[in-house]
Amino acid sequence: MNILILGSGGREHAFAWKLSQSPECTHLYIVPGNAGTSSYGTNIKISPTDFISIKQIVLQHDITMVVVGPEDPLVKGIHDFFLGDDELKQVSIIGPKADGAQLEGSKDFSKQFMFRHRIPTAQYQTFTNETLEEGLMFLETLSPPYVLKADGLAAGKGVLIPVSLPEAKKELSEMLANAKFGNASAKVVIEEFLKGIELSVFVLTDGNSYKILPAAKDYKRIGENDTGLNTGGMGAISPVPFADEAFIKKVEDRIIIPTINGLKEEGIIYKGFIFIGLMNVNGEPLVIEYNVRMGDPETEVVIPRIKSDLLDLFLGVAHCNLNEKTFEVDTRFATTVMLVSGGYPEEYEKGKVISGLDEVQGSIAFHAGTAIESAKNGKDAGREKVVTNGGRVISITSYGDTMQEALTKSFVNAERINYEGKYYRKDIGNDLKVYYPLPKG
Ligand code: AMP
Ligand code: GLY
Repeated sequence: MNILILGSGGREHAFAWKLSQSPECTHLYIVPGNAGTSSYGTNIKISPTDFISIKQIVLQHDITMVVVGPEDPLVKGIHDFFLGDDELKQVSIIGPKADGAQLEGSKDFSKQFMFRHRIPTAQYQTFTNETLEEGLMFLETLSPPYVLKADGLAAGKGVLIPVSLPEAKKELSEMLANAKFGNASAKVVIEEFLKGIELSVFVLTDGNSYKILPAAKDYKRIGENDTGLNTGGMGAISPVPFADEAFIKKVEDRIIIPTINGLKEEGIIYKGFIFIGLMNVNGEPLVIEYNVRMGDPETEVVIPRIKSDLLDLFLGVAHCNLNEKTFEVDTRFATTVMLVSGGYPEEYEKGKVISGLDEVQGSIAFHAGTAIESAKNGKDAGREKVVTNGGRVISITSYGDTMQEALTKSFVNAERINYEGKYYRKDIGNDLKVYYPLPKG
């Protein structure tokens, strides 16, 4: 069968890598993809939210499954668009409809959902510009730090954690009265600050049954020891040592089952991934957020640890028989280290030639922000080179019987790849070393 993957990051490269291993996969198309995905299929340079052009591609190439990487097309209703079109309604979409995508598209919706279904999460209240005064008063009743979340999608930047009351008040006013995040901050969720260790648990569901995928921990800050600005993610590790069987059982009983049942009760037919961002507070899991897609770079460690055929699992999602599918996980560790552009997550340059990709050994280089460029003139005219095309450039994934073994391979290969301005965090996994000896699985 022909499959279309939407997106252009390391996550989509990892999907392409894994799906291409399935005997059922005939041809992959990636919209828009990157230099890495072009080794597994055909990249088509259009936007993942250009539904009309996507329709043409699907019909032209006889595509029967669309795997949606990022949240944007889901929140904008790509699944509903397909279901509402006679020529497209038979196509399987891996990703929820707009109603389910609200779990990520609206923080207020997701908090209300969690409270309706008694899913453990931080206490909160939601405010608008009309209730700004109440919001400022509410802040006075809390102790620092303060958690302010723009309700809508804000490209991963909509959460602020000011440490002082004056700063929190200023930020709340900026968000509500001055539209700091545009329409996304027309509503703001103010939340109790949870102190603990973060991790992510991923679920694949057909709306009834589900598979719990390997858990992962990502490293969000740009600087070592978790300092500096937030990024999309600088590295990830799976498994997570403190997410042992007993902890995951709590997550399943208190969070996953009530989430799947809650969606069903509300008439939301959900087919796709649920990414549950969790805080482990003294051994108890609380939900920080839902995402309606896989994480990036978490996918680059989670997908490599899935031994089963991912396309077969997706077919289970599409045909509502996921419960009949075998699901096997590799017990080895997987680590990924993200190479980024100099300046990221602030301003950075693109188009830097990447060398050393052929020298990578014992790791998988999942491309994130890369593109293929042909030299226009000179003696190399027409020759293709891989260049940087984003903030996060390449994610280097390795396996190991221990976390350290996997990390060592990722770091060795991180040195083999070069481009002007290359930066990566050398402390990925350091915080987890206290958990040695690590349990496996
Ligand atoms: P979110 O986009 O909701 O995942 O928030 C971004 C980051 O803010 C999370 O990964 C956490 O590090 C932090 N965060 C969000 N909510 C809370 C909370 N209630 N308590 C502590 N940290 C939080
Ligand atoms: N790495 C975090 C995310 O994908 O949202």
